[in-house]
Amino acid sequence: MIRKSHTLLALIMLLFVSSLSFAETITINIKDFKFQPDNKTINLGDSIKWVNQDSSPHTSTSDNNLWDSATLSLGASFTRIFDKAGKFTYHCHIHPGMIGTVVVRTAEQTQIKIGKDIITANPKQLPIKLNLAGKNADQVYLGSYIVNAQGGCVDCHSCPSYAAGHDPYKGEIKQFNSLSYLAGGKAFGPFISANLTPDTSGKPAGVTLAEFKDLMRTGNDPDVPGNTLQVMPWPVYGMMSDRDLEAIYAFLSSIPKATPSLPSACP
Ligand code: HEC
Repeated sequence: MIRKSHTLLALIMLLFVSSLSFAETITINIKDFKFQPDNKTINLGDSIKWVNQDSSPHTSTSDNNLWDSATLSLGASFTRIFDKAGKFTYHCHIHPGMIGTVVVRTAEQTQIKIGKDIITANPKQLPIKLNLAGKNADQVYLGSYIVNAQGGCVDCHSCPSYAAGHDPYKGEIKQFNSLSYLAGGKAFGPFISANLTPDTSGKPAGVTLAEFKDLMRTGNDPDVPGNTLQVMPWPVYGMMSDRDLEAIYAFLSSIPKATPSLPSACP
């Protein structure tokens, strides 16, 4: 029993650690009288931890009085969270020739980066190949962020939502089901979630951008005029800005065409 609870604890800690990966603490070593790396780009909300590895004392001191680590002796460290976008320069107060820069992405750049990482970074959370031909890649990746990290569209439109052996609810390493990603086919009573992947003409769910925005804002069923979409959380999504809905549409236009799995695969 005790052993079991230890295993569970380890599992919970593992999940906790892996779920932190989006707000990171990045280490900059102070070594051989240099900040290593001396130029680092991070996401909004990430932290930098400076660790002095020289036997000489050093500091991390903002050029604009935004932070000062005070003297760091060998092995000592100083951590600062960066919650504002911009370019931040700093130096060592004791050795002013030692300089460094931290660039913090804007909130939008951070969302685009995460939206891209979901598909391209290892371990792959969503191993699909996007068709970016003729599209604005940043807009597509912003859509990836909204669909995958905010919208929860896979919960209802991918069946099953996660790949075999990659179900985070079972403590497995998360990976979305890429074979029938957003291909719909999940039953909610009499209502079946729609296939959101592009049709033969490239239109996601077979709808134009205007129809997509209309159904997200009003719940108008594009297939059955006068019908109101059920289950689908359009009353929530309808509050999104045009920019966000257009980014979702761009992303859905770029995902691979897929067919739903057999209903038996959709519990
Ligand atoms: C709670 C479950 C649920 C979630 C979450 C959800 N949907 Fe749906 N969606 C449905 C269901 C069910 C339908 C079909 C409703 C009906 O036929 O009345 C649907 C229909 C749609 C349609 C209409 C397609 C057509 O041609 O009729 C679109 C587009 C759509 N969803 C997009 C999305 C997007 C984008 C997201 C994420 C931002 C999302 N959905 C999240 C359940 C959901």
